[in-house]
Amino acid sequence: MPSETAVKTRVELYPLLAGIAAATDLVSPVLVNHHRRVAFVAAALGSNLGLNQEELRRLILAAAVHDIGGLTVGTRLEAFEFEVATPARHTLPGASLLAGFAPFAELARIVRFHHLYWQHGRGGAEEGEEVPRLSHIIHLADRVAVQIDPTREILAQQREIVARIKAGSGEMFAPDQVEAFLELAGREAFWLDLTSPGVGAILEQRFPLAALEFDRGQLLALAEMFRRLIDFRSRFTATHSSGVAAVASALAARSGFMPADPDRIMIAGWLHDIGKLVVPAEILEKRQGLASGDLAIIYKHPYYTGEILRPIPGFEDIGQWGSLHHERLDGSGYPFRMKGEEIPQGARILAVADTFTALMEDRPYRCGISAAGTERIMRDMVEYHRLDRDFVGLVHENISEINDRRHEAQLAADQAHLRFLEECRLLAGSSEVGDRCPVSSRGQA
Ligand SMILES: [Fe+2]
Ligand SMILES: [Fe+2]
Ligand SMILES: [Fe+2]
Repeated sequence: MPSETAVKTRVELYPLLAGIAAATDLVSPVLVNHHRRVAFVAAALGSNLGLNQEELRRLILAAAVHDIGGLTVGTRLEAFEFEVATPARHTLPGASLLAGFAPFAELARIVRFHHLYWQHGRGGAEEGEEVPRLSHIIHLADRVAVQIDPTREILAQQREIVARIKAGSGEMFAPDQVEAFLELAGREAFWLDLTSPGVGAILEQRFPLAALEFDRGQLLALAEMFRRLIDFRSRFTATHSSGVAAVASALAARSGFMPADPDRIMIAGWLHDIGKLVVPAEILEKRQGLASGDLAIIYKHPYYTGEILRPIPGFEDIGQWGSLHHERLDGSGYPFRMKGEEIPQGARILAVADTFTALMEDRPYRCGISAAGTERIMRDMVEYHRLDRDFVGLVHENISEINDRRHEAQLAADQAHLRFLEECRLLAGSSEVGDRCPVSSRGQA
């Protein structure tokens, strides 16, 4: 009989990464389809340059997530300037997030250098390290994509975009890569594919990538990497999903819910807020006074959790529970306004774990509430038929153990967040540390 660790899961990486990166492109209309467009141009360039299958695979995956470290809308829009003043603000976080998952170490290196100028060959190395030529290909592809003006006909822009890329040959871009681009750019169909709403599907059809097999440990590490991507966009959410995952898995274990696969509810806890990638970090950072326009954006997030996760083979249930974590038994939740029995057990566990964690942890506008206060609020929510009575009961029967697990998970995530900030050199001069609650997220009995 194969051991549990020998069980492999097939993961289609391109649709998974492209779906997640596409969500980050929804924070501003200017950015829509950016990652897919850059992946398309990079793949076409790589193919013209004669890259082998493995290089092409790495190029497409790296291009599909190249701006993933642009955690705020401001940083993302800055990367849309033709000459980016401080690219490290998004290339370092992107590389650091990707490097957290060992099989993506190569992608991290490519993303790290995707704004480096060629500098007549000096850009072939940086800080004593060889720079992958795939980074330079993405740089060129990216500079093509950022010049597209969505308000004008693309074929009327072809000439000026080409002229600007040509002018950058040698200093900005490697001349052989510019040559490969000129060959592509002469065909109208290239531009029409590039600006088609279906550019992602065109790319997948033209450059199909084989699925990879991950064992259990790798799958968990991949989900944890996405957890960091979701949470690290704001210091106020930096540890949230870790707490939810710890509480949800403790509840699942105690209730006998899916004893065969406790990983799934933990992954659902890590990823329940993945739809927040469509919410600008600037809104997550607000301390108080969310305007109705901000709430209109925040209310979208569980819907997008479902949109991002459900199409991924093997993640259907995780996507469903995640998309329903703000539903309430009396129908007062959002965005589906489901009621009672319509809401599955996994989603009820997440709703309880999310509420418990949100009350106990420090928020932008207040410090964590005491365990006694949390218990009162959650019991009221049961009485008003909002949260599941049995799961709330389980929390309170095991409050000190469950709260310890939440606290430990959030403490570990907090340490990981600090390391991330150091790696990204974001710590100095930021308010990331310092203005914290006096009793940081431990909660008082
Ligand atoms: Fe970029
Ligand atoms: Fe970009
Ligand atoms: Fe949420």
